[in-house]
Amino acid sequence: MKIGILTGGGDCPGLNAVIRAVVRRAEHHNFEVMGIRDGWKGLVEDSNLRLTRQSVSGILHVGGTILGTSRTNPFKNPENVDKVLRTIERHNLSAIVAIGGEDTLGVAKKLFEEKGVKIVGVPKTIDNDLYGTDFTFGFDTAVSIATEAIDRLHSTAESHKRVIVCEVMGRHAGWIATYSGIAGGADVILVPEYPIELDNVAKHLQHRHQQGKKFSIVVVAEGATVATAKGGENVTTSQRLDEFGHVQLGGIGQFLATELEKRTGFETRVTVLGHIQRGGSPTAHDRVLATRYGVKACDMVAAGEFGRMAALRGNEVQSVPLSEATSKLKTVDPKLFEMAEVFFG
Ligand code: F6P
Repeated sequence: MKIGILTGGGDCPGLNAVIRAVVRRAEHHNFEVMGIRDGWKGLVEDSNLRLTRQSVSGILHVGGTILGTSRTNPFKNPENVDKVLRTIERHNLSAIVAIGGEDTLGVAKKLFEEKGVKIVGVPKTIDNDLYGTDFTFGFDTAVSIATEAIDRLHSTAESHKRVIVCEVMGRHAGWIATYSGIAGGADVILVPEYPIELDNVAKHLQHRHQQGKKFSIVVVAEGATVATAKGGENVTTSQRLDEFGHVQLGGIGQFLATELEKRTGFETRVTVLGHIQRGGSPTAHDRVLATRYGVKACDMVAAGEFGRMAALRGNEVQSVPLSEATSKLKTVDPKLFEMAEVFFG
């Protein structure tokens, strides 16, 4: 039996660990593994490579993905869906392991439900916003990187008696901001789940200064919005959309720094962590999680559990329907955010 494996969407530390785990477990099941290049694009364009124990040796700790990735959405053009199906047939692929977030797994779900493609999903994203799993792999690494950055910003902010706004990733959900903000002792954390009230943020900073702390750290998720009478409004410097219709984010940090300096008179700087959070080696935690997901995904193929995703529930890796995982996004638990608020201001 031959299976295909692909990585789609934004890359994320731990992708190679999953690929390695699938290939190693495939030996046990006697599966041949075909690597598909650049996500769904590789099935549209029939671009692939054979994966063996030798070709996945030494990649466990390496960031990025040896398969490449893209944000290609085959459903944007019905011809491309046919091409995907033809490639699967041409190579006699019995199943596909799709490693991705909401968009990649949304395509996986559609291919399974509408075209009968036998697919197993693996939950990837530094944003940790995929429903159906307690944690995605890559999140722990991103939080560690952001926390280290916040620690470093503390010492320079304190020396100069400045406010520093640190913009982290998090398109729809503020998991990275909340976790790294708690871990790094941020004085205010701003997330997409709660539109930003600028005057409130300024009050927190002023309160802190009145308590004798002449510096502050504000952590903001890139997808956080500013409260208006109509609800939350996005602040982005780009209008560029990807194939799934998502706008390229970025800009809220600078906006916030300008507005807070105006309101408080405190000298304010901004640091945007950007793709640094996605690059480099995965943490030990993510290597273990990614390995567990890869082995489980391969076992799910062997058991014929298609249209499902490997998921972490408590400390167990289980299988959940892709329809459940893609039904909505997993936003920050309000109880966790309330706890974080104890340390604001
Ligand atoms: O989905 C993960 C993510 O890192 C988001 O947090 C961010 O908005 C997006 O990817 C950035 O994508 P790109 O690599 O296309 O800039």
